[in-house]
Amino acid sequence: MRDIGIDLGTTNVLIYVKGKGVVLNEPSVVSIDNTTKKILAVGKEAKEMIGRTPEKVKAVRPMKDGVIADFEMTEEMLNLFIKKAIGKRNLTRPKILICCPSNITGVEKNAIREIAERTGAKKVFLEEEPKVAAVGAGIDISKPSGSMVIDIGGGTTDVAVLSLGGIVTSDSIKVAGNTFDEDIVNYVKEKYKVTIGETTAEEIKIEIGTVLKEKQKKEIEVTGRGVTSGLPEVVQITANDVAEALKEDIKKIINVAKNVLEKTPPELASDIAEKGIVLTGGGSLIRGLVTKVKEELKVPVFISDNPLTNVVEGTGILLNHIDLMDESYK
Ligand SMILES: Nc1ncnc2c1ncn2[C@@H]1O[C@H](COP(=O)(O)OP(=O)(O)OP(=O)(O)O)[C@@H](O)[C@H]1O
Ligand SMILES: [Mg+2]
Repeated sequence: MRDIGIDLGTTNVLIYVKGKGVVLNEPSVVSIDNTTKKILAVGKEAKEMIGRTPEKVKAVRPMKDGVIADFEMTEEMLNLFIKKAIGKRNLTRPKILICCPSNITGVEKNAIREIAERTGAKKVFLEEEPKVAAVGAGIDISKPSGSMVIDIGGGTTDVAVLSLGGIVTSDSIKVAGNTFDEDIVNYVKEKYKVTIGETTAEEIKIEIGTVLKEKQKKEIEVTGRGVTSGLPEVVQITANDVAEALKEDIKKIINVAKNVLEKTPPELASDIAEKGIVLTGGGSLIRGLVTKVKEELKVPVFISDNPLTNVVEGTGILLNHIDLMDESYK
């Protein structure tokens, strides 16, 4: 059986099969029948149901803030994804390398490990996400030189400094892509007195979103529900609205990065000042972020080539050394 790597993200689940590459990339969403509690769909199909379901169907995200919010649902979702990725008929069981955020509790880690074990894995390896993201972004973390990554996912932003194959300093905050969406919803409600859905907010963010005030006027037309009329209303949202809505979130993310940098030993900090910081995770794709982080932290900043797939690609690279990891995971 081929070994597999899993990025069990709050927003997306990706699976890498050794020898094949990334074979699955689907939203971490499950839709269930409210009365029978039976699963109706997972992944892409389930995501399309968010905000559009009749009362008896509920679309849920079983992972929240990078950790498991609903154990059974996460287990069923992962089982279905693994089956889809490797096929049902398998005589031998795979080794699974699965990622977790860096600052979760032992109990939360055990829950992730247990779910992976119960999918029928021969052996489960847990690795911290920022480390795997760095590997996937092409950073050689084995050297005695400091590297810094900021992984802005859906649920959490993980900041880590790595050297000699391990995490030296790190921190994490529950502010990331999904928070951006929520704050766009709140801002639009406040300013335009119109309620929009989170999916619409995500579209706004991806289409015109920026973290910098811009001169040219980018706009998008969206439909929501008038707060007082209760009826559908069309509003024009500008890029500057998004920048304003996300101001506090970006400040919080930058503060976490500043704190991590301040806690970093001087030699490693000087490596970072020279090599720069790498941004990864889907949330880092928002326009202007590289410039903003560079301005605030006064070091070079780059975005990785594939922010949405770095973690799972990192598992692919680490799977090549999984037998070495075998030794250290008794
Ligand atoms: N082009 C884009 N511009 C801005 N945001 C984007 C873009 N593409 C994706 N995103 C956002 O990236 C986030 C998902 O990123 P990612 O897949 O890295 O998260 P995750 O790994 O599932 O979450 P976590 O690591 O927190 O568990 C979502 O909030 C999504 O809206
Ligand atoms: Mg992630």
